[in-house]
Amino acid sequence: MSETKKVFIKTYGCQMNVYDSERMTDTLAPLGWIEAPSAEEADLVILNTCHIREKASEKVYSELGRMRVLKSEKAERGEKLLVGVAGCVAQAEGREIARRAPVVDMVFGPQSYHHLPDLLTRTGNGARVVETEFPVEDKFDHLAPATREKTIARGLTAFLTVQEGCDKFCTFCVVPYTRGVETSRPVDRILAEARRLADAGVREVTLLGQNVNGFHGEGPDGTAWGLGRLCRALAEIPGLDRIRYTTSHPRDMSDDLIAAHRDLPQLMPYLHLPVQSGSDRILAAMNRRHGRDDYLRLIDRIRAARPDMALSGDFIVGFPGETEEDFQATLRIVEEVGYASAFSFKYSARPGTPAAGEADQIAEGVKIERLARLQAAIDAATRAFNLSRLGMTMDVLLEKPGRRPGQLAGRSPWLQAVHLEAPSELLGRIVPVRVEAVAANSLSAALLDPPSRSEPPVSVHGVAQ
Ligand code: SAH
Ligand code: SF4
Ligand code: F3S
Repeated sequence: MSETKKVFIKTYGCQMNVYDSERMTDTLAPLGWIEAPSAEEADLVILNTCHIREKASEKVYSELGRMRVLKSEKAERGEKLLVGVAGCVAQAEGREIARRAPVVDMVFGPQSYHHLPDLLTRTGNGARVVETEFPVEDKFDHLAPATREKTIARGLTAFLTVQEGCDKFCTFCVVPYTRGVETSRPVDRILAEARRLADAGVREVTLLGQNVNGFHGEGPDGTAWGLGRLCRALAEIPGLDRIRYTTSHPRDMSDDLIAAHRDLPQLMPYLHLPVQSGSDRILAAMNRRHGRDDYLRLIDRIRAARPDMALSGDFIVGFPGETEEDFQATLRIVEEVGYASAFSFKYSARPGTPAAGEADQIAEGVKIERLARLQAAIDAATRAFNLSRLGMTMDVLLEKPGRRPGQLAGRSPWLQAVHLEAPSELLGRIVPVRVEAVAANSLSAALLDPPSRSEPPVSVHGVAQ
């Protein structure tokens, strides 16, 4: 391609979409595509969509309305705009999108991203394409791997997809249909990508998967490695000081992974372990394949291995048939676990999922009221958790400039945002701090033992920054 073209990717949904969008950008780069700061300045706009709840998928159609206007404005100026829809809505409603929105030039599902250059050639020739097959080859073999320049914080922290898809078929969830069956990437590819990231200065990696702790990638020895073993290998990579992973299913929390939390200081003491409901009756109807007690006992075992483990979760209120009593059980489990944070959602009936066809759907007013009560309980738990850190000494990875001049901001081991006065040359360092104040969503801290001026500048494997 002779001239430079500009692409703008708008990302909705989960971190895996964020990772995928970065990989799409990287895959287009050798073909002469650079990133545009906005849709207005782009020759190609890709909406990387999410289908998880009705609201999320509706956003696509309103954004496509905007794209229609933009495309005709550009056409009046003699400019061209290509519009693509990727992600989980594309996978679930590919043909419907093409039918409803003539503005769209290409629709392609999450397993087709490595075909993007080919799709562009086809649309460049005037064709409209819909590609929602699940190809046999592994897209990660053909997509550009993560590099530091393209990672989420463009520097110190990065996402790394290790597993994709889900075979759990919770009765409310579209993911098994949009992302397909559970597959794990081979261990050597993951380690190579992680090494490249660490060499470029990334200090914290978050391993991604819809069911990340169900990871069973082929190891160099030909056997299937679990996530615990993968974390042990990642912990040996120099410079990779912090490892996180998300999202986990309670059924897949193996003894080895729990032991890895005991053994590896790099494995951060923060676990996103959604339970969805505190009621056994609802958990069974959701096909979660674990009960309330299984979940609580699992947390006991995790905390026995890593006493400072903080938990986070996801909850759904108003699942079909949920009574006030069921909901009370959810409120109780929030109290019992003492979550550091949690997401909560109103049940949204998704086409094609078993629960959507249930007769006893819950009225919207009841869902709204339960969500408000649950969120109040979660907020109280988060406040209590944050307050429990007051006066505590902890390590913070300084990731970016803070709100005020002279401040830097970073994350605690428990993923809390932390602000402190610190010289900018400490960016990228993990420093000990003492927490001095607790606000609603962040901690204020003071640097302990400021490193002396005579120390060498921040360096990553000997490369001065
Ligand atoms: N793979 C992860 C998360 C999947 S989606 C897991 O198994 O936990 C993220 C969250 O969205 C889910 O945990 C669930 O709480 C919520 N969610 C999924 N489907 C939903 C639906 N139909 N309505 C409301 N919330 C939903
Ligand atoms: Fe969806 Fe359940 Fe799979 Fe999570 S485990 S992605 S909620 S089907
Ligand atoms: Fe949404 Fe697909 Fe992620 S439905 S939450 S973008 S896996």
